[in-house]
Amino acid sequence: KIVVLDFGSQYNQLIARRVRELGVYSELLPCTISIAKLKAMHPKGIIFSGGPDSVYDKKALKVDPKIFKLGIPILGICYGMQLMAYDLGGQVKSAKSQYGHAQIKVTTDQATLFHNLPKQEPVWMSHSDLVSKVPDGFTDVATSPNCPIAAMQNNAKHFYGIQFHAEVNNTKYGKDILKRFVLNVCHAKANWSMTDFIDMQIEQIRHKVGDKKVILALSGGVDSSVVAVLLHRAIGHQLTCIFVDHGLLRKNEADQVMSSLHDDLGLNIVRVNAQKEFLDRLKGVADPETKRKIIGHQFIKVFDREAHKIKDVAFLAQGTIYPDRIESGLGVAAKIKSHHNVGGLPKKMHLKLIEPLKYLFKDEVRAVGTKLGIPDELVWRQPFPGPGLAIRVIGAVTPDKLRIVRDSDAILRKMIKQAGLNRKIWQYFTVLPGFKSVGVMGDQRTYDYTIAIRAITSIDGMTADFARIPWDVMSKISTEICDKVNGVNRVVYDVTSKPPSTIEWE
Ligand code: XMP
Repeated sequence: KIVVLDFGSQYNQLIARRVRELGVYSELLPCTISIAKLKAMHPKGIIFSGGPDSVYDKKALKVDPKIFKLGIPILGICYGMQLMAYDLGGQVKSAKSQYGHAQIKVTTDQATLFHNLPKQEPVWMSHSDLVSKVPDGFTDVATSPNCPIAAMQNNAKHFYGIQFHAEVNNTKYGKDILKRFVLNVCHAKANWSMTDFIDMQIEQIRHKVGDKKVILALSGGVDSSVVAVLLHRAIGHQLTCIFVDHGLLRKNEADQVMSSLHDDLGLNIVRVNAQKEFLDRLKGVADPETKRKIIGHQFIKVFDREAHKIKDVAFLAQGTIYPDRIESGLGVAAKIKSHHNVGGLPKKMHLKLIEPLKYLFKDEVRAVGTKLGIPDELVWRQPFPGPGLAIRVIGAVTPDKLRIVRDSDAILRKMIKQAGLNRKIWQYFTVLPGFKSVGVMGDQRTYDYTIAIRAITSIDGMTADFARIPWDVMSKISTEICDKVNGVNRVVYDVTSKPPSTIEWE
């Protein structure tokens, strides 16, 4: 395996992911990890990620310099290169910040990571400091106009540094450079594939569970569906999925989940029709955070009640994935927002956890889902918040308002799919702001609700930009919503990015 040490760069997850794309298992770990722990993992190679610090900052993230004595190949990217240079006796200085495209020139035929690649190549730079003198034993092997030492190497020790970001697509040969490090320098074996992953997990789950019972809260989302099917493969009906239908799901969603996972794939699913309970609790509540809390508490209550009906349960399975763990403090990247999933289940229930997807990125989870035969609608489902449509009806939730968001959302989804945009837009949905305005329909004055469309492109949901949907598609969506959804006479488009807005309105 290849260990990526996290120094806080926004691209850190991408590095691990690129390595996995080469077929080599890779994990992102905090740079503060102890040398003993690191050694025990027997990594074939180590990559230092970039990061926002300067090596001269008092509080700069550092790594125990004993790491350079382990005899393991190391690649430093951006800040990682600066740290390597600094720790090994080179010099780092601050320079004019450089952000964006740059051209580097490889200056020697002996540049290991650039072997057989073009001598001039476009790269992506994002830094303020740079290495001004390489440490003893190193040579500089590439240069760019604003960054004289763009790459350095010490072949004898297998230490490499690159000032640019090989992990982003804008660095044309980035993958090739990483490949040379991972496969040629580290000699890591390319044996990480989703089929192996499934087989390995099934074996591990069987071993761990034995003849005990497992429960799982099925939400209909990608992660919980994939865990459910994986566990079903491993232990069949020893798994019970509890699917709480809180009435805040999208149109026909609950039926679709049942039809794909229960009817077609044969999972053991208890569907709890709790719509009324949730609506009753939400009645008259306008504050978004209070709504979230009520839904979270109610969810746990209903789940707990159902779970107690099943005898001898020993495990709770969860669809935690790798980015969830990184966001909730596994990494050192700045915490931009607190994660708001329905939590608190395991603590209360004294069950042991099973989290088979905890090392996977979203795209890997999707690949596993497809391999397991889960249909595309589920595998490619867009992110959907736990509190569901309740946070898309601004203010107090009523059945009629839910109908309006649900029906307008179904129209939006249908038409985005027809326009072939469904996999290009990260998330798209409608919001009911809750005010009325004047309109005219068939010579009649109307006084009805406005629907807002929110559609964004994003990589991880942390930042987002509004999607540039063609006007003719917009026009059709707007006409159809006003025609088909009673009580709506106006459609507007939300043209804010995140920040300053968030993706959801509440
Ligand atoms: P925001 O609105 O914070 O959303 O920009 C970022 C991503 O998180 C989703 N989201 C939620 N997911 N429970 C969830 O499970 C929630 O309470 C919640 N609020 C927002 C949102 O849909 C987007 O994908």
